Amino acid sequence: MNLLECVGLYGLRTFDPERAHGLSIKALKLGLAPLAGTVTSSRLTTTVAGLSLPNPVGLAAGFDKNAEAITPLSRAGFGFIEVGAATPRPQLGNDKPRLFRLTQDRAAINRFGFNNEGADAIAARLAQRPQDAIIGLNLGANKDSQDRADDFSRVLATCGAHLDFATVNVSSPNTEKLRDLQGAEALSALLKGVLATRDAQSKRIPIFLKIAPDLSDAEISDIAGVALDLELDGIIATNTTLSRDGLKNKHRDQMGGLSGAPLFEKSTRVLARLSHETNGKVPLIGVGGVATAEQAYAKIKAGASAVQLYTAMVYQGLSIGAKIARGLDTMVNADGLSNISEAVGQGTNKWL
Ligand SMILES: Cc1cc2nc3c(=O)[nH]c(=O)nc-3n(C[C@H](O)[C@H](O)[C@H](O)COP(=O)(O)O)c2cc1C
Repeated sequence: MNLLECVGLYGLRTFDPERAHGLSIKALKLGLAPLAGTVTSSRLTTTVAGLSLPNPVGLAAGFDKNAEAITPLSRAGFGFIEVGAATPRPQLGNDKPRLFRLTQDRAAINRFGFNNEGADAIAARLAQRPQDAIIGLNLGANKDSQDRADDFSRVLATCGAHLDFATVNVSSPNTEKLRDLQGAEALSALLKGVLATRDAQSKRIPIFLKIAPDLSDAEISDIAGVALDLELDGIIATNTTLSRDGLKNKHRDQMGGLSGAPLFEKSTRVLARLSHETNGKVPLIGVGGVATAEQAYAKIKAGASAVQLYTAMVYQGLSIGAKIARGLDTMVNADGLSNISEAVGQGTNKWL
């Protein structure tokens, strides 16, 4: 972290968390944030679901909900970025306050509830995107929708031409009953609709499914079955958790999804179980509590072809993507591997 980033982070931490987040997006748009540029090497380049990534460390959904800062973010050292969630119609989300920092726990709780400017506004920004980066969109559903399953397809139809990948997010805990769409039957119907929309578009992009960490082994097994059946392009594991185990901060009982350090172990277990259930046949992206290169490497060994992060950036700044990617390069080299893909799934059993 450089001096500017340290001072910036200190300043941002003294604001209300949602205001601090808004200011960091503004700073990015104004070109005030220091950017690492592309971080890559022959050991770090990897292909996930047909996407060629300069490195396997991505920015998770939810940081740039409205695709306002895609150009600077794509220069920040991440190997790929996911914006959104976008819903068909604009939506205000839940009442404020709805984002809480749990500093002692290196964690956050949010109950945003898919606040976003809607698919049309987001598509217009995505149309201006840089072409030399890998950019995906997290698809969501409107809270008051009559047909939530169809909402995912509608957002994809609006934005798909400007995307490298899209993620079906049925795992946010902040839209009532959304997670019910993770059941095998509902999930299969929903994904069939999204895949048909994708197939009807001129550009064939990979479709990922993002799942919750609070699933039983049986539920994970069902999801793996659906993914294999439908030849889904990949699964992102995981979203935030409803669990509150071991937290110290006064905000621990706030409603919403918990992210950051306390999520690491739980989300890595779900990832490993998925890797086991799919026999390594479905590309997986590991997310949840990644704050160091060691943790990113652990997710990769547990079965992830790439990782994503969000909350650790709140505590360590924007340079964290580049820092973790460089750390991974060193670790892959120390293990005597010629490419990071050789490490994928080498330690799955440890997490089962
Ligand atoms: C403030 C906030 C907003 C989020 N919004 C979304 C979202 O819109 N869609 C989504 O799939 N995940 C969302 N997430 C979840 C993250 O993408 C990620 O899955 C989760 O935070 C775990 O990763 P982390 O521990 O590195 O933060 C959000 C997370 C946070 C902290």
